[in-house]
Amino acid sequence: MPIYKASNFKLFHGDCIKVMSDLHSPVDMIFADPPYKLSNGGFTCQSGKKVSVNKGKWDKSKGLAEDHKFNLQWLNMCKEVMNPNATIWISGTYHIIYSIGFALHELGFKILNEIAWFKPNASPNLSCRYFTASHETLIWAARDKNSKHIFNYQEMKKMNGGRQMRSVWEIPSPSKKEKIYGKHPTQKPIALLERIILSSTNPEQIVLDPFTGSGTTGEAAIKFDRKFIGIEKEKEYIDLTFRRLKAVSAIRTIPSRVDNDCNKLVSIGSLFESQEQYYPSRSEISQSFC
Ligand SMILES: C[S@@+](CC[C@H](N)C(=O)[O-])C[C@H]1O[C@@H](n2cnc3c(N)ncnc32)[C@H](O)[C@@H]1O
Repeated sequence: MPIYKASNFKLFHGDCIKVMSDLHSPVDMIFADPPYKLSNGGFTCQSGKKVSVNKGKWDKSKGLAEDHKFNLQWLNMCKEVMNPNATIWISGTYHIIYSIGFALHELGFKILNEIAWFKPNASPNLSCRYFTASHETLIWAARDKNSKHIFNYQEMKKMNGGRQMRSVWEIPSPSKKEKIYGKHPTQKPIALLERIILSSTNPEQIVLDPFTGSGTTGEAAIKFDRKFIGIEKEKEYIDLTFRRLKAVSAIRTIPSRVDNDCNKLVSIGSLFESQEQYYPSRSEISQSFC
């Protein structure tokens, strides 16, 4: 049962495996930014200061075998809720990305691309004993080898100045102005999710994020007239997502890349059926996106 619901999004508070097992409407695309399991006593640099890496309890490793089992479980559930032609994007660093890649093969997904997201403003390495970590990997996969996946080739070419979009994307980490609705320790930049949504979905399609966090995927989906289902275990983050989506639903900005009518503000009126907690029946959930 969604904790928040509007005509273009539904937000669920709970464990993604459990929530997905109760989902009735199949989805067209999934973006998943799972726990990278890197909060294990290391250090990093934030605003010039040495701080311990502690994103939250959810980011602690339970050991290789347990972490891989979890990745297999949630990916398997994703496959269950995907339309035959749906695709899935998963982000990660070396801490989990090999487990994710192996799990995708084990479950019969078809890997379409691997994207290197390069962060030009990455934090420096404090120990000076390693290269500075400045990229994350994104895997893009179809549900299986028979899927006829969507790729908006021309849209991507246009976004890349008329040349084919390549697999290395330079996008800075989110700025302060992307965090005005509240803080999340691993928020993704909106530009990254915009590119993902525009490349692999069409308007009116349903986008699911099983690890919603601060709601970046939802913001990009709604901006471009997609529908969004978000799942998040921590109450404070699902509330943050709701504040964000409420704001973006009221005023959407169409970027110049997509529409020559640069940054035109489009008022779409009140989209919200209810801003309060809403508990529909199972049959309502399955019908409400139809
Ligand atoms: C890496 S963050 C996602 C950040 C998000 N992409 C954003 O831009 O804000 C992962 C999120 O997954 C949530 N989480 C962890 N385990 C979960 C689970 N089993 N089910 C649902 N959410 C979970 C965490 O609370 C955290 O907010």
